Amino acid sequence: MPEKILLQADYFLTWDENLKLYSRAEMVIENSLITYLGPRLERPEKNFKRVINEKNSLVIPGFINTHTHAAMSLFRGYADDLALMDWLQNKIWPAEAKLKKEDIYWGTLLSIAEMIRGGTTCFADMYFHMEEAARACIESGIRASLAQGLVGMEKTKGEQGLRQSRDLVRNWHNKGEGRITIMLGPHAPYTCPPEYLQEVGELAGELSVPIHIHLAETRYEVEESCRKYGKTPVELVNETGLPAHNLLAAHCVHLSAKDIEILAAKNIAVAHNPGSNLKLGSGLAPVADLLQKEVLVSLGTDSAASNNNLDLLEEMRLATLLQKGLQEDPAVIPAEIAFKMATIDGARALFLPGETGTLKEGAKADLALLKLKQPHCYPLYSLAAHLVYSAGAGDVDLVMVDGRVLMEKGRLLTIDEEKILHEASQRAQRLTGN
Ligand code: NI
Repeated sequence: MPEKILLQADYFLTWDENLKLYSRAEMVIENSLITYLGPRLERPEKNFKRVINEKNSLVIPGFINTHTHAAMSLFRGYADDLALMDWLQNKIWPAEAKLKKEDIYWGTLLSIAEMIRGGTTCFADMYFHMEEAARACIESGIRASLAQGLVGMEKTKGEQGLRQSRDLVRNWHNKGEGRITIMLGPHAPYTCPPEYLQEVGELAGELSVPIHIHLAETRYEVEESCRKYGKTPVELVNETGLPAHNLLAAHCVHLSAKDIEILAAKNIAVAHNPGSNLKLGSGLAPVADLLQKEVLVSLGTDSAASNNNLDLLEEMRLATLLQKGLQEDPAVIPAEIAFKMATIDGARALFLPGETGTLKEGAKADLALLKLKQPHCYPLYSLAAHLVYSAGAGDVDLVMVDGRVLMEKGRLLTIDEEKILHEASQRAQRLTGN
């Protein structure tokens, strides 16, 4: 008999082509897939391995964090309120130089624990020693798109990165029952010259994997690019041919009208990171303009060193509130659109195989259940408004990826949280000398 789970909840809220709400409904999960979602039917309980019936509950697709550097959670709160270059050169880079492979494993697990607790079921990561990140993902059961961060300023280092990426694809792509996918991760146009980006594009074509890059994050980056090449970072990347492949661009804060046209015309997906952009004083991405031009915009947290948490509920709220303030228009990015950015559009931005980021028959059973019986969720007029404007990560009570329960009643079931917290503080001391 297949492993069948019956999940009954007060509400299921999801995006498909439209926003869909199912009240007093139920879902059947067989192995990793949703095989039914709709009205409750007469079904003998003995047909199921488990029946989960939660009162006052809302089930949503798990959040998809489309840009982070998971292992950097080891540097959470180590250096704050500094200018970007001061932060990088004097704090982050010296600490990163002491990172060992095992640190990546434990730092990634720390982030995974936090993400699962906040209802995130999939994330896109860019860092180094990514085989350690892959190991942490497989053990925890979370879904992830992993990229080795590539820097192409020196030929030897650049070539080494490409070899490592090739190995990563060979050893980890589609592993963990398909939960792990690999992308190529050229860090940014200012650390990867155009010729190197072209090489990355060729490799992406050869290996049939998407590309994840930082793009137009700061005003300084754009000014330097214009000075050096006479082109904005978006124009420069466009000329390297990268957009011919599936391309995910993190940040896209400082964009010209022409840049926005390029993003739209070339179907470049954007990972918007409002928390990190604010904290590093980078600026406000023109998200409302991007959406108007039908650019695919998803949400990311960036690392816990520049955020300082990995909470997609918070990013949804920031994404909509910032645009309302910026545009002086409260109708901009309504709650349900912020919810779409954090779920189905996240799955699209990662070019994930199969259906994820949505709740429907045939889709992967990646979901989060929130408890609504809390003062900040009463009374109830709009579930989307509660999710985006009222809810907190602590409301998430159950999380499932690929039909497997990873957290239930506030307990992480696949990873040893006590051990992870202990390892994180020990390792932080060694890395930062604090
Ligand atoms: Ni980043």
